[in-house]
Amino acid sequence: MLIVNICYSVTTNINMSNSKADSNLVGTAVAAAAAGAALAYAAMKMSEKSSSSSSKPEETHRSKRNSYIYDDYKNDPILARDASENMIFPYNHEEKMRRRIAQRYAVEEENSAPRNSVTVKVPATSANMGPGYDCLGMAVDLWTEVTVERADKFEIIAEGEGAEEMPKDETNLMVTGAKAAFDAANKPYPVLKYTVVSRIPYARGLGSSSAAIVAGIIAGLVLAGHKLPCWGSEALLQIAAGIEGHPDNVAPVIYGGIQLGIHNGTRWTTERIPSPSGMQLVLFIPDFVGKTSDARGVLKPEISREEAAFNIGRIGFLVHALCVGNLDNLKFGVEDKMHQPQRGNAIYKYLYPMIEAAEKAGANCAYLSGAGPTVMALTSGASGDIFTQREKERTDRGVAHAMLRVAEDFGIKGRLVVTQMSHEGAHIVKVDPPFSSEGSIEYRDQV
Ligand code: HSE
Repeated sequence: MLIVNICYSVTTNINMSNSKADSNLVGTAVAAAAAGAALAYAAMKMSEKSSSSSSKPEETHRSKRNSYIYDDYKNDPILARDASENMIFPYNHEEKMRRRIAQRYAVEEENSAPRNSVTVKVPATSANMGPGYDCLGMAVDLWTEVTVERADKFEIIAEGEGAEEMPKDETNLMVTGAKAAFDAANKPYPVLKYTVVSRIPYARGLGSSSAAIVAGIIAGLVLAGHKLPCWGSEALLQIAAGIEGHPDNVAPVIYGGIQLGIHNGTRWTTERIPSPSGMQLVLFIPDFVGKTSDARGVLKPEISREEAAFNIGRIGFLVHALCVGNLDNLKFGVEDKMHQPQRGNAIYKYLYPMIEAAEKAGANCAYLSGAGPTVMALTSGASGDIFTQREKERTDRGVAHAMLRVAEDFGIKGRLVVTQMSHEGAHIVKVDPPFSSEGSIEYRDQV
């Protein structure tokens, strides 16, 4: 019985990540969603039937657990707030998950043991992707590793990207994230030591702040032994986007892939957009830091109806091009009137010449990554490990050289990095004591 329930638990997690997973075609996605909805509806009906036909009276272990979980659900500030709004969510995640949890009566209590130390890996991200200002972003395969441990004195030790520049006091966003996690756990924030091996270029438009926030929250939750509701609620996203103010970086840090996030008036929610296969990312990363507040400061407070219509059309084209793999349309999809022209004009003079050069050299598209200064070009045609692919079949190198030539023309120093999108988001790579030591399940890397 226990084995059955453990399997069930693993299946649940797989389903959960699939809810944000890629699908190749819009049609497939729609069909899958319809099939999923039908299955979910059937499952709900079955669960209604089984609960109504089950004998109620005696106070069994199951009924105790049901009532414990139900109360937990009602007392959870996020779920309680959302409970009245289930009707507006088409997939009704909370209700389905509440019923699913209630059925798992034979599984052991939630493990809320505090931990001594934890190591979290968080990816870089590229926000906006052109017209998706403050809502669209992609996880990038460049990773920072953060270890947080209980200690006698507060300390931040950093090596790698931005090691000198990042604050070493409590204003560091890792600390903000960890404090928010202990708040969510309703536990006092302990003395912690942070050790960062940073591979995300610092303040370059590649999401180093969001990565720090998410790393801090995840580390804090694990140290505190606190788990959050996920299905439909996306409680981790609520905390992270609440700190950051917008979800375009934090959503892909958490979930990986390309994420389209919105605030629905009550809470943040995000969906994964499919990504074409064989996609490479070619990044020109200038040597200078870009301050997001400056890059937001040059934006005018209002946009015209024409500009709004332009961006609405472009983001539709972009999402469609990504969904169906129509790479030729990406260059139209990343056009925008809301922030790139203003930022290009006021701060990054090389931006449009570099976009033009990258596209001429064979990139499917190029755009300002986040608030800059990095410029991101997307190329396609990568096959397996690119180092086993004939160079004349690859486009990334030609695009990289074209971007470098523009940088030279403008006297901008920087470096070219070729990498790829990451399907995976933030994850724990080490924890003491490990989760694998509890029960019969071994997790990747024996975490
Ligand atoms: N959407 C944000 C911006 C990303 O463009 O300002 C950087 O935080």
